[in-house]
This record gives sequence, C-alpha cells and structure tokens, in this order.
Amino acid sequence: MFQDRLVSYSGVQPSGNLTIGNYLGAIRNFSLYSEKYKCFYCVVDEHAITVRQNPAELRRRTYETLALYMACGLDPEKNTLYVQSHVHEHAELAWILNCFTGFGELSRMTQFKDKSQKHADNINAGLFTYPVLMAADILLYQTDVVPVGIDQKQHVELCRDIAERFNQIHPDTFTIPEPIVSKSGMKIMSLADPTKKMSKSDENANAVVYILDDRDTIIRKFKRAVTDSDTSVRFAEGKDGINNLMTIYSCFTGKTMEEIEREFEGHGYGDFKLAVGEVCADALAPVQEKFHALLKDKAALEAQMKKGAEEASYYARRTLGKVQKKLGFVKI
Ligand code: TRP
Repeated sequence: MFQDRLVSYSGVQPSGNLTIGNYLGAIRNFSLYSEKYKCFYCVVDEHAITVRQNPAELRRRTYETLALYMACGLDPEKNTLYVQSHVHEHAELAWILNCFTGFGELSRMTQFKDKSQKHADNINAGLFTYPVLMAADILLYQTDVVPVGIDQKQHVELCRDIAERFNQIHPDTFTIPEPIVSKSGMKIMSLADPTKKMSKSDENANAVVYILDDRDTIIRKFKRAVTDSDTSVRFAEGKDGINNLMTIYSCFTGKTMEEIEREFEGHGYGDFKLAVGEVCADALAPVQEKFHALLKDKAALEAQMKKGAEEASYYARRTLGKVQKKLGFVKI
C-alpha cells in the first residue's frame, strides 16, 4: 500500500522493439492504470546482462525504452519511471534474498531451462539467480500487484514464496505480491501464423509489427498477412488470420466486429488489409513523432531518469533498511 493506493510494479527489458501487441494489450492502458495504482516502471538493465550485451547498444536501448514508454503515454509525473542500476538497493536486496532461495527452486524455473539451452555457451550464475533479482525489484516497493505476461508468472510465484519464507522468520517485512496476468482476450496474433501470439522475438520479421516501424513497412507487413481462402471479411471460427486483423482494426478504430463486417461488405481481403495497415500507421505516427523528439534531448531524458531514481530510492532505502536491521546487520 502507498497512502490510499495499491502499489503496482513492472519491469521492462531495455529493448526498443515493442510490438503493437504490447501497445494494444498493455501500454496503451497504462494511463488508466495509474489512476488506480501507485505505479513503478523499471528499465531492467541489470537483468539484461544475464545474456551478453553490446555495451553501446544496451546504453542506447535504455534511453530508447524510457522514451518509448513516455511516447506511448506513460506520464512521468504520475508514475515512477526509472532505471534499475540507478537504485543500488536492488542488487543489495537480491544478495540477501539469494540466501533465502533454494537451489532446487531456481533449477525448476522454465525460463532458466529455456535460456540455458539457448545460451549454452554462457550459463552464468546471474542467469540462474535472475528470478531472485526480480523478487528484489518487486519486494523493495512493498508491491501489491505485478502485471506480467504468462511467461513471468512462475517468477512472481517464486517471489511470493521467498517473501513468505522471509516473513516467517522475520515477521511483517514484505507485502506479498499478486501476479496479474493480462487477459488472453486482448491477444494480438502473429501475422505470419495467426495461431501463435505476436512475439517481439519472432524470427520472421513479417510476423510482427513494431511500434517504431515506418508507415511503408507497416502497410507492407499487413498486405502480406496470412489469411484464408474465403473472400469475405467476417469474424468466424477457423478464420484466424482475418479474426486477428479484425481485432487489430477494432482496437485502433473502436469499431465493433459487426460494424467492420458492414464496412467491408463487397470488398476483398486486399482492401481490408490496406485499411488495417493505414489505421495502424495513422495511430502510431504521433507516438513515433513524440519518441523521436524525446530521444533528441538526451539531457532531458537523463533528468527524467534522475528524478525517477530519486523517487524509487526513497522507497527502496526504507525497505532495505528494515531488512538489514531484522537480519542483524550493524548500523553505523
Ligand atoms: N523478467 C521480466 C521480463 O522479462 C522483467 C522484470 C524484471 C520484471 N523485474 C521485474 C517484471 C519485476 C515484473 C516485475 O519480462
């Protein structure tokens, strides 16, 4: 709890390639979220280095991620937006929580198993304890809710287990957080394989529309979207490709499926795909414009980072201080 509001905490990887799925399913609704919750959004550069990064690229992406979230409407006056490595309490609490986490528990994490297969040449201890740093992120802010994708739910559950274990030994230390898994109803599917979720790491570039794709690219990708051999634009079982395009069109225009069917009666898929591409490009144009303007002013972004880090530190310091005291660390 923070004053009268519940605390929401979310970590975002420093990569500039967010998709329209991220935008429509989550980011676009952030401003509604901040009415209900005290929200923290953290660019997790320390998590990023669990796999090898090019330093110049990591730095660039950290700025870009902050700018992109702000361009999508995340208001830094209403939310705490900051970079993980700017608040040293994260790494410190992670060490302490390492001592309250089982080797077996970490071995069972599916992301660790997946990533150690994918990066077999670099299975480092950081990759293994990644969920402990994530638990530290969450617990430092006495978080009530953690909005995550389904792939991160297991990590939030581990975080709860760690917090409960700690609280059992040292009562009343941490708030126990709840994961909030985004509704599958708002799922945007891949344009190349509409039975699969649109994923920013898809190897087929035509499958994914990124928030920062230019107009021509967006229209070309929609033109190539996989559909079916039917010809009429209707929402129906078995028409995954068209259903997905209709969902996207509906999200951008606010029109219902019936309205869309009526609008495109007598039109072929070609016309419809072009229309989807156009509404998407039109909607993203102001976001992109704002993004590029924000990125031009590095000093302003840095000032933003500093303000966010100062806000976050205030809460982080309080929790870490409490933990250290409970553990018996000498205060000087
Ligand atoms: N692991 C998350 C991801 O890959 C990012 C993350 C880091 C996070 N710390 C967090 C998410 C804390 C929620 C809360 O998406």
